[in-house]
Amino acid sequence: MAGGPTLANEIARAMRDSPLYVTIPAVMMTIILAIFILDQLSHGPLKGRRSPPVISVAPVWGGMVAFLAGPMRLMREAMPKYGEVFTVPVFHKRITFLIGPKVSEHFFKAKDTEMSQKEVYEFNVPTFGKGVVFDVDHTTRAEQFRFFADSLKSNRLRMYVGMMVKEAEDFFAKWGDEGEVNLLDELSELIVLTASRCLLGREIRETLYSEVTELVHDLDKGMVPLSVFFPYAPIEAHRKRDKARKKLAQIFDKVIQARRESGASEPDVLQTFIDARYKNGSKLSNDQVLGMLIAVLFAGQHTSSITSTWTGLLSIANKERVFPALEEEQRKIIKAHGNELDFDILAKMDELHFAVKEALRMHPPLIMLLRYAQSAFEVETTEGKKYTVPKGHIVATSPAFAHRLDSVYSEPDTYKPGRFREPNAEDKAAFASFIGFGGGRHGCMGETFAYMQIKTIWSILIRNFEFDMVGDLPEPDYEGMVVGPKHAGCRIKYKRRAKPLGK
Ligand code: HEM
Ligand SMILES: *[C@@H]1O[C@H](CO)[C@@H](O)[C@H](O)[C@H]1NC(C)=O
Repeated sequence: MAGGPTLANEIARAMRDSPLYVTIPAVMMTIILAIFILDQLSHGPLKGRRSPPVISVAPVWGGMVAFLAGPMRLMREAMPKYGEVFTVPVFHKRITFLIGPKVSEHFFKAKDTEMSQKEVYEFNVPTFGKGVVFDVDHTTRAEQFRFFADSLKSNRLRMYVGMMVKEAEDFFAKWGDEGEVNLLDELSELIVLTASRCLLGREIRETLYSEVTELVHDLDKGMVPLSVFFPYAPIEAHRKRDKARKKLAQIFDKVIQARRESGASEPDVLQTFIDARYKNGSKLSNDQVLGMLIAVLFAGQHTSSITSTWTGLLSIANKERVFPALEEEQRKIIKAHGNELDFDILAKMDELHFAVKEALRMHPPLIMLLRYAQSAFEVETTEGKKYTVPKGHIVATSPAFAHRLDSVYSEPDTYKPGRFREPNAEDKAAFASFIGFGGGRHGCMGETFAYMQIKTIWSILIRNFEFDMVGDLPEPDYEGMVVGPKHAGCRIKYKRRAKPLGK
């Protein structure tokens, strides 16, 4: 088994080398399972006194059909048996799951030299491009993450919010007086439009929009479960991805060069990357500027479309219980500020904020977060069991699973935005209770951006329309890299209010 370009080596390499974040979709788990069973048959389970328990083959084999349903099923079945910490072997690699706030704290707080992202998220390199994010050394990456942070800080956000409002108002003005839409399709489209404006910039939004959107689409479709293991496999999706990445580079090279030459300064993320300077004074190349833009675009696109869709679906499906508070809040805000929407006004909408946060609790689009243990570390479970997770393990934590623990959240399967209201907010009892945006050292840098975007959308929708579900709430679609509601279940009916709220 040692040496040779075996599937196991390839997988290990992919896991070592890998987006900005990764989920383990069902297909990937299927491959892991196959390898895992082979491994068990040839070696037997790992031994080690204080290492976490290694899940044994028999019960999994027995429950194999269920197991194939993906990581959620794996955790649901393994946790009652093994507890909050257990290891799944994948040939010579070990994936250790840390479930719940107590044991996952270190995952979020550790330094990069202890828990690193590069090894597990490096498969994004062909999508983002060379010389950025996971294709650079640690020092350079730290500087590039500072550029991300600068591009998303609140003085910039204040400018982006104006563009979000404009895009959303124009978009919903085009809806009829009543009708039926697929919410996921509609909100995805709006979020692409907004992202083009705020991130990619005016030139793209105003003159190159359809061409660039198509290329970004090819780039997106070039990320399939196989890419996680074999990012350079010669498949059609990867060929289109690489072609699209090259074409985007040509388009952006011209746009960026024009800005550099004219000295124009625009209020967008593109501009912050053009203006960014490393400590040694040097700039990002045009291709690296594009790479950084693609990374931010991918971090925010599906995550935001999915969360805004779940917010709508869950509050419409629980309309009687949830909508009155949302409408009342909009009336109050309109009374105080008229129709104006800006950063500060959106920040006052607590009820809407809780509705979004609760949607993200129940359905976080990134269902698995991964790291690579650069050094061994200790964990103690809520039952007081102590384990040492060895160096070299891949470490996994799951927002989707952790958010449904009844030790953390009351009635975890019920949509209850009020659970986040102070002074007894359920997520404040322990660090890492709410991890929809990750947390700690590598928590989401786009969190405020995302809330502003989603609250803009829903505050405009609530003010102007009434809604009904068409069918039942959809199930999550675990086949996706980023997990959203099953597409067919996202249809809703809308009716324009005769008089907008508050008038
Ligand atoms: C509802 C929408 C969003 C969700 C659920 C979300 C979720 C997350 C999560 C879970 C992480 C941590 C990944 C890990 O620990 O491995 C993360 C990181 C990140 N997100 Fe978001 N995100 C959202 C929107 C955005 C947006 C709109 C942007 C940018 C405009 C963005 C930019 C980033 C960046 C730059 C990081 C990397 C932070 C780091 O590694 O230090 N995200 N996001
Ligand atoms: C400046 O620092 C960056 C980031 O570490 C590096 O990529 C670049 O090559 C350096 N430039 C010079 C001229 O040394």
